[in-house]
Amino acid sequence: MCGIIGYVGKRNAQPILIQGLKRLEYRGYDSAGVALFNQGSSNAITIVKTAKDNLPNGVSPLISLAGKLKPDSAQIGIAHTRWATHGEPNETNAHPHVCNKHGIAVVHNGIIENYRALRKYLESKGHTMSTGTDSEVLAHLIGENFDAKEKDPLISAVQKTLAEIEGTYGMAVMMKGYDGIVAARNGSPLIIGLGDEELFISSDPGPINDHTKNIIRLDDFQVARIGPDGYHITNLDNDVFESKVEKITWDIKQIELSGYDHFMQKEIFQQPQTVQDAFRGRLGEKGVRLDGLDELGKVMPKISRIKLVACGTSWHASKIGKYLFENLAGIPAEVDYASEFRYAHPILDPAELVIVLSQSGETADTLEALRQAKKTNHTFGIVNAVGSLITRENDAGIYIHAGPEIGVASTKAFTGQVTCLYLMALQMGIERGVIDNYSVHKAELESLPGKIKEILDMDSNIKTIAENYAKNKNYLFLGRGINFPVALEGALKLKEISKIHAEGYPAAEMKHGPIALIDKNMPVVFVATGRDTLYEKVLSNMEEVKARKGKIIAVVNQGDERVRDLADHIIPVPTTSKWLAPLLNVIPLQLLAYHTAVIRGKNPDKPENLAKAVTVE
Ligand code: G6P
Repeated sequence: MCGIIGYVGKRNAQPILIQGLKRLEYRGYDSAGVALFNQGSSNAITIVKTAKDNLPNGVSPLISLAGKLKPDSAQIGIAHTRWATHGEPNETNAHPHVCNKHGIAVVHNGIIENYRALRKYLESKGHTMSTGTDSEVLAHLIGENFDAKEKDPLISAVQKTLAEIEGTYGMAVMMKGYDGIVAARNGSPLIIGLGDEELFISSDPGPINDHTKNIIRLDDFQVARIGPDGYHITNLDNDVFESKVEKITWDIKQIELSGYDHFMQKEIFQQPQTVQDAFRGRLGEKGVRLDGLDELGKVMPKISRIKLVACGTSWHASKIGKYLFENLAGIPAEVDYASEFRYAHPILDPAELVIVLSQSGETADTLEALRQAKKTNHTFGIVNAVGSLITRENDAGIYIHAGPEIGVASTKAFTGQVTCLYLMALQMGIERGVIDNYSVHKAELESLPGKIKEILDMDSNIKTIAENYAKNKNYLFLGRGINFPVALEGALKLKEISKIHAEGYPAAEMKHGPIALIDKNMPVVFVATGRDTLYEKVLSNMEEVKARKGKIIAVVNQGDERVRDLADHIIPVPTTSKWLAPLLNVIPLQLLAYHTAVIRGKNPDKPENLAKAVTVE
């Protein structure tokens, strides 16, 4: 995924675009570029680009881009921050891409699947491609389709081009001598911001929030023009649309660091609030109130199975959801990777509710899995980003209410998702008559924000543990039952941001493989809370690690003396019910990953090669 921002108005576009790119940087940061058109002084479009591979280590393309721009007073511009899919992340491949035939500049987020065929066609028509990207064909095809006889030749050329391409796009187009921007979307989000005598195009509301609270979300296959005469939205056949204006309700402070060193750190520390926000107003005296579930109405009692579908951290939350639905509501549940589900031709029971989980609500695989599932089954979304595509395409759903998550490695969205899954499982369990101690569940959930705070207070102890192993090359994370997905999530966090190889495993499976790797250089994190039948077995696994001189870091309940004797490091967390334990146990693992990355000199908010939302396959 990449970030796109565009401006048309009376102000100087440059600082607005650079500031906007900073807010979009989490969407991609290997290169960046702008196109500016100054109607007053010249008839040409100025293009400036920069990429990480040309810069000294640690300098961000955005800082370099801002430095390269010459002062001007252009009032129209588009800008892009890139996460490379096709073509190396170098300056040539940075957007905007240009077709000199009509002075067209394009920024694009998505993938043009038939770009090879289009490239050949365009070359046969005399176009010369100068980059290794799929996106460049867009600029040339628009140039090729340009017909000056049309009423608005740029809009017509874009519409014609989009009818010829296969793939996904959020894109913005400028042309020399043209007084506006043409934007279009299919699969990759794009919104219009409606300011006072100025209009914006953006991948998300972050950059626009500084200037206006009023936005329009473009739908798939819509083409919009913004210019001095306002905005105008059509489809590819030029039918005109009246779109709904929405108000951004969140505050700009939510996307600022507010004294923290990194967004990931801020988001880890926000989690007492995140969990509270996820259950606030939803815990009634006699049961849970989830309007989203009520929307499914008569369908609900007929649901006899659940399929959870997601990617990345959302997939780990889904794994926890399986335990919750099966154990609290007595409903069999399965979890699939969205990328696998969409091509697996899954045989779904008509009584199976398909729940998709997504922080961003944009992940391409999850969206496509949802579309497949919708053909035959009822679907439900648990999503963070308000108004995102996945929320709009689901039959029903609930929001996590975690607020914008900027850190690429997901933290607070995970705890928000697990809280929502717990609420759903509770409500379904009550409706099915399998839960008779709701007040106990409610009280325990309400006590969690305070318990998370207690864990966050151990931050400096966890940092010390991180220091001990920051030079190690591998880590192993083990847990059993509902703590197994927590181990997976701990390993994922560490590998995402610190570049240490880490694996998560069910503790008992260690002897079927990972044990071969254990020696004095292997830190092993055990998630070993709770005192059920599995506890003793996990202690045996610790003995096995100790016997091979592995280093043991154990997340245990406060007062657990038995593990203290075995482990090299103890992280004591407050006790809670077995089903809520993941919400506590994941916090020290997030902190461990965060500190390890910082100690290793990595910026946890910009892990190499990763993107916050993957809007491509
Ligand atoms: C990317 C992000 C992960 C995220 C995953 C799923 O890989 O880097 O942090 O968990 O996508 O994203 P979603 O927005 O669908 O939860």
